[in-house]
Amino acid sequence: MRITVSGATGFIGRELVIRLQEAGHQVHILGRTLRKGLSPAVLFSVWDPERGLPPLESLESADAVIHLAGEPVAQRWTPKIKQKIRDSRVLGTQRLVEALGQCGQRPKVLVCASAVGYYGDRGDEVLEESAKPGTGFLSNVCQEWEKAAAECGKLGMRVVQVRTGVVLGKDGGALARMLPPFKVGVGGRLGSGEQWMPWIHIEDLARLMQFAVENSSLSGPVNGAAPNLVTNADFTVALGRALSRPAIFPVPLCAIRLLFGEMSEILIASQRAVPKAAQEAGFSFEHPEVYAALREAVK
Ligand SMILES: NC(=O)c1ccc[n+]([C@@H]2O[C@H](COP(=O)([O-])OP(=O)(O)OC[C@H]3O[C@@H](n4cnc5c(N)ncnc54)[C@H](OP(=O)(O)O)[C@@H]3O)[C@@H](O)[C@H]2O)c1
Repeated sequence: MRITVSGATGFIGRELVIRLQEAGHQVHILGRTLRKGLSPAVLFSVWDPERGLPPLESLESADAVIHLAGEPVAQRWTPKIKQKIRDSRVLGTQRLVEALGQCGQRPKVLVCASAVGYYGDRGDEVLEESAKPGTGFLSNVCQEWEKAAAECGKLGMRVVQVRTGVVLGKDGGALARMLPPFKVGVGGRLGSGEQWMPWIHIEDLARLMQFAVENSSLSGPVNGAAPNLVTNADFTVALGRALSRPAIFPVPLCAIRLLFGEMSEILIASQRAVPKAAQEAGFSFEHPEVYAALREAVK
């Protein structure tokens, strides 16, 4: 298949592009600036989601589009950054859909990133994809983002929104930011540690996105989270064990709020999100257990 990928230079996108190429797909990257060192087998078009529509030729030639681009969420949420987090996703997706509407021949499927942040902070409630959305900045962004992607349904395209949890992999993502304190033995749970922390190994997430492209039985929201959910306290113990380091220094809630401001919402929210849609469609996880997944990710 010919698959166009936005945000392909990011943490998830890099893993995804390698996987798609290994599976024999031809990849067309949409990025804000041309990066050096891209494989000659990859096509590239410039697109800045905050500025305008993607070039139609990057979409008309494609069988599928995977849309990952967005301003990083893990930074201090100033009013300006919040605007960028929202606009790069919501306006960006609206522009992508507008361009798809203008295509003479359009792809069959759009797989669009979303996040478990959709659910807000939900305590111990088990969250299947049909659960109602939550509240808060990130939940609102995810709702608008998913709605913008769903508009592709009116163009006759299949749409899959992958509500992704914390992605575990080497060289990036949340784990890269968590590792320094753990490596020097001062890691610990966040707040009470009772919050559910949906996670997924990066290889499984890339496999799930490929699965979503290739399997027409999957459509609508899909929780991108491993089946064996853990609380933040359990995750902390597993990470300490994976690194052979103690993990006994809890970070108090007030310190998290002071350090991260409003962004602390993503560190302390509880989302018990289960991968019902993916498993019902026949997807199986290669990294279902958190300790083994962490061992692999930190080795
Ligand atoms: N990593 C996670 O744990 C996680 C969890 C839940 C959801 N997600 C979602 O999955 C998607 C991919 O995540 P990721 O971790 O791979 O993100 P990432 O490493 O930050 O990469 C995202 C890519 O988006 C593009 N981008 C960055 N800022 C942008 C902006 N202001 N406007 C438009 N494009 C911008 C960049 O590509 P170019 O420079 O090539 O344009 C960048 O490589 C994101 O939308 C993220 O919200 C990730």
